[in-house]
Amino acid sequence: MSNLVFSGIQPSGQLHIGNYLGAIINWLELQEKYPCIFAIVDYHSISVPFNPQEKRQEIKELALDFLALGINPKKSQIIIQSHLPEHLELAWILGTITPLSWLERIPTFKSKKQQHQQYLNLGLLSYPVLMSADILLYKANLVPVGEDQLPHIELTNQIAKRFNQMFGKTFPEIKPILTVQSRIMGLNRPNDKMSKSLGKSNYLALTDLPKTIRQKIKSATTDSDNQIKLDWEKKPGISNLLSIYHLFTKKTIDQICQQYQNKGYAQFKSDLAEIIIEQLSPFQNKRQRLSNKPGYINKIISNGEKKAKKIAQATLREVKQKIGLL
Ligand code: TYM
Repeated sequence: MSNLVFSGIQPSGQLHIGNYLGAIINWLELQEKYPCIFAIVDYHSISVPFNPQEKRQEIKELALDFLALGINPKKSQIIIQSHLPEHLELAWILGTITPLSWLERIPTFKSKKQQHQQYLNLGLLSYPVLMSADILLYKANLVPVGEDQLPHIELTNQIAKRFNQMFGKTFPEIKPILTVQSRIMGLNRPNDKMSKSLGKSNYLALTDLPKTIRQKIKSATTDSDNQIKLDWEKKPGISNLLSIYHLFTKKTIDQICQQYQNKGYAQFKSDLAEIIIEQLSPFQNKRQRLSNKPGYINKIISNGEKKAKKIAQATLREVKQKIGLL
């Protein structure tokens, strides 16, 4: 079986460096080797409270992000999930063979259940089935994601295996592809992963202005002993910043620790902010240029969707045939 890469991101506000360092850098690498489909998973994003006016804008902004980050439309297809109803059709079918107990133990369901007690809808529970359908619809076998998505990939493999056992071999086994640091922690809560839902000062958006980046890094939570070293247990804040420094500069952790020996956190943080500003600037400039070309972006998406639809329809036909619906 040939390799195909699939991954997706929810359009729900700004992308942050967690998304980038934890997942997207692998997208860019993989597209050099394999055919890829990258999805704006808008159906997933409406399982939590949202504003319809903002949603439209968020979808556009994410497409802009993908291109500005370097997703190459000559190599990869960019699609919007809701434009391809096949995702939902397959999700329904897969849902009928997924035991409830498999879904109830998924960690993201448990935490979202706590977080959205007033908005506890079926979509929150069936969310990972839709994600399984996203991947299996294209028979993708390589899925670059951050560590938080691993339970979903495991579930996808369980569902695929069950389908194959019940109806005959159809889906491949899926391999998650992780980055070196597939869990970037929050700036002001370094024991939890960086996340938009924990407030603006918790994450560093890829579109943050230099002033904001300086201010957010400066106020990032650290301990008080002023020693720069990697110790996730005792020094989660500084370890997180160290690892971000390492990922942006490719200097080893040892080199960085040596460089800042006796220099203290203030200097380290100030240098880190400048490094991030410099690293994000080509992306931010390209994004600015592309934002004036909505027609070009729409064309890329509709071309991507045309190609993806062919694969999606073929898989769905095969699935429907196997379960006796065709
Ligand atoms: P989403 O939109 O929450 O996040 C997009 C990607 O960013 C990664 N990520 C992180 N990685 C490291 N550290 C962090 N702090 C961090 N925060 C986010 C996520 O792991 C993810 O790879 N369910 C998915 C979207 C999805 C999908 C798919 C992914 C839907 N269908 C099919 C892959 C294949 C999600 O909510 O990602």
